[in-house]
Formats: sequence, structure tokens, C-alpha cells
Amino acid sequence: MGLSPRFSRMSVPEKREYLLNNQFTRSSLPGNNDEDYLWICDVMVENAVGYAGLPLGITAPIRIDGQDYLVPMATEEASVIAAASYGGKMASLDGGFVTSPPQPLIKGHLYYANTTLSQAEKLMNAVTIAIDKASPMLSSMQKRGGGLESWDFFYLKNPDCHVIEITLNVCDSMGANLMNSYLEKLSDMLLELSGKKADIAILSNEASCRTGKAEFRISLDKIKRAGRYDMSAEEIGKKLVFLSEVAEHFPPRAVTHNKGIMNGITALALATGNDTRAIEASVHSYACSSGVYKGLATYKIEKDFLTGHIKAPVPFAAIGGSIAFTDYSRFSMDILGNPSSRQLASIALALGLAQNFAALLALSTRGIQAGHMKLHAKKIAYQAGARGRQIQTIADLLNKEKNYKQEFAEELLKTNGKDD
Ligand code: MEV
Repeated sequence: MGLSPRFSRMSVPEKREYLLNNQFTRSSLPGNNDEDYLWICDVMVENAVGYAGLPLGITAPIRIDGQDYLVPMATEEASVIAAASYGGKMASLDGGFVTSPPQPLIKGHLYYANTTLSQAEKLMNAVTIAIDKASPMLSSMQKRGGGLESWDFFYLKNPDCHVIEITLNVCDSMGANLMNSYLEKLSDMLLELSGKKADIAILSNEASCRTGKAEFRISLDKIKRAGRYDMSAEEIGKKLVFLSEVAEHFPPRAVTHNKGIMNGITALALATGNDTRAIEASVHSYACSSGVYKGLATYKIEKDFLTGHIKAPVPFAAIGGSIAFTDYSRFSMDILGNPSSRQLASIALALGLAQNFAALLALSTRGIQAGHMKLHAKKIAYQAGARGRQIQTIADLLNKEKNYKQEFAEELLKTNGKDD
């Protein structure tokens, strides 16, 4: 299918009509025809033709810094919300998560290639004057307690360039637009003052300046009893710590370990309208900041208690961007009690750790597939044609027989689905 040169200027309903006339049927167009929603999509992205919906769910209550949260999560993976709820509930048995949220800082850079020493000196001397001149741009952020945090000037040998690094406190916003506009303004001022033009002005998604922590502590015996595991409390604890050590030293396992953490953090980012790519880029770069990619959640046994700990950058925003722009992000922020960006960062860290704890518990005990397939069964029932309450009936039968083949679900539907 080719695109009309007029396509980008069409309204969304016109774009959808165009697709209908060129290959697609009404039922194969993404999303429904809710015009309000289509217009929201149109103002959010270029060439919108619909929206890609994902299920939005909420976890069971998770205790974070003394408060219970129902955490909203948007995800396509069946086991993610169940696992977060399980890990969160377990960790909440002995008081829940305690966090140290990061300051909402963001860094950005001006790059000057092939700068002579005298140009570099001129530039460096001009920075404070440029910052002073550009300060009105930060005045509303300053009123909210943020603004310029610090600046630095350094030389990169390879490639040969001087760099001005700016760190802003962006309070509850993501600050990406503010940082980029501020850098461009500084660049103009510095050109006037030093005669040297910046080659590049851009924020950095390396967010180690925004690293926070969360931890929890739970008695091993409570884990065993709450999970009704048929292993001893000591065995479960030892296996969990072993898994934690493997993730610290063996990158192929560390990547999967962190993928599990991101199952939680990314789902919260999607639900609240945050920038998932910025968060993921910062988390994974932090995971290999020592030169070796490492697991970000670690576990220890102290006496008869297991402690879990996570340290990671969590650049979440609570206002601006797409947050509160869509009904789902408004709902997500509301159900969390409209947290600040720092509170949201705490929730994200606790959620990531809850998610990881559930995965490691499953791996240490019954294995990952038992729970996974149990949840997957509903999807198989649906694919086999079950609808409404039939879905659970068929899924229960699939689970009972531990047979997850679609043909088996279809057979079951013929004999068991009719009464529902
Ligand atoms: C699945 O989405 C995530 C896990 O593989 C994470 C892990 O292995 O730690 C269960």
C-alpha cells in the first residue's frame, strides 16, 4: 500500500477512511472509532491512525514507606501484575519497602569540537555570564524549588572536544524540553560572548545523578509459611541468595534478572504516561557502569531474615509530557494519590524489587512455568473461542489437566463451554 502525499495533512478520521479504502477493513483498524481518543492520538504523535491499547491493571496493596499503594501497571505479559502483587504482598508481611528516592536531577551537555585552548578559556570564562543571562528561563522552576543545580567544564580527548555539563533540578517534571531549550539558549549566549558555536546541545539520559534505593526485610519462616513451599525456609533463602550472586557476576543471567525488574518499572511508566525509553536507557547504562553488566537487585540473609535491596536510576516525572494527558495516565496518578516525582520514583523502585522478588521466589521453588502457564491458560481459552465466563471455565480445565494446547481448549469448549 502506498501513501498519498496528502496523508500527513489528513485528519485522523480521514486517515482511517484512507486505510479503509486501501487494503484494511473496519474491524482490522487499531483501537475503536472513539473520536475524542483519536484526536488525542493526533495531537500526541505525527500520522496517528489509531491507538495501541494495552491492558491496565492494579496490584494488590504494596506497603511502601509506611503507606499502602495499589500500583497501576500497563503490560501485555500475563504474569507481570500477578508477580508484582505476589512479591509486593510477601515483602509487605514484615513492614514492606523502605526507600530513599533520588533528587529529580537531569544532566545535559554542550559539545564544542576542535576547540583551541584560547577558545576553550574564553568559553569557560563566559559560562557564568551566560547562565546569569539565561536565568529567566529557569525562574518558574526556581519558584518550585528547582533550577540550576551545578555546571562543569571538561575536555574529552576522543573525540577532541570541550564539554559544558549542566545539571538541573526539574522538580516534578521530566525536564527534557526545559533542558534542551535551556542548552540551546546557553549555546546562543555563549556564541555571543565567546565567538564559538556549540556543535551539539542535548540532554543526557545517563541518569546516575537520579539513583534511588529501596529495600525490604522479611523472616524466612514467614516466606515459607505464606507461600506454602515444600522446601525449608533456609533452603529457600540460600537459593535466593545464590540467584542474586549469579546475577551479580554472570551478565547473561543479570540481563534476565533486570528484565524482570523492568517488567514492573516499565509497566508503571507506561501506565502513568512516563517516558519508558528514557527510564530503560538509564537503568541499563547504570547496570553496566562498573564495566560489567550486573543485576540491580541483591539479596542477603541476616540471621533468619532475608533482605532485598535495589539501587537504580528512576527518572520518573509526575507532571508534564504525556502525564495526565490521557484518561489512563490520569487514572494511574489518581489511584496513587497524585504522588510527586520522588514518591513515584520510590514506588517504581519498590515495584521493581517486588517483581524481582516474585521471580526469584518462583525460580528458587516451583520454577517459573507453573505460575506462568496458569495465567497464560486464559489467553489460550480465548484463542480457542471462549468468551465471557467461558474463559475462566476452560482455563480452569486446562490448568487441571496441565495441557495448554489450543486444540485441547477447543475440544473442551465443545463439551464444557455451552452452559456458561
Ligand atoms: C519474565 O518476564 C521475567 C523473568 O524471567 C525474570 C527472571 O528470570 O528473574 C521471570
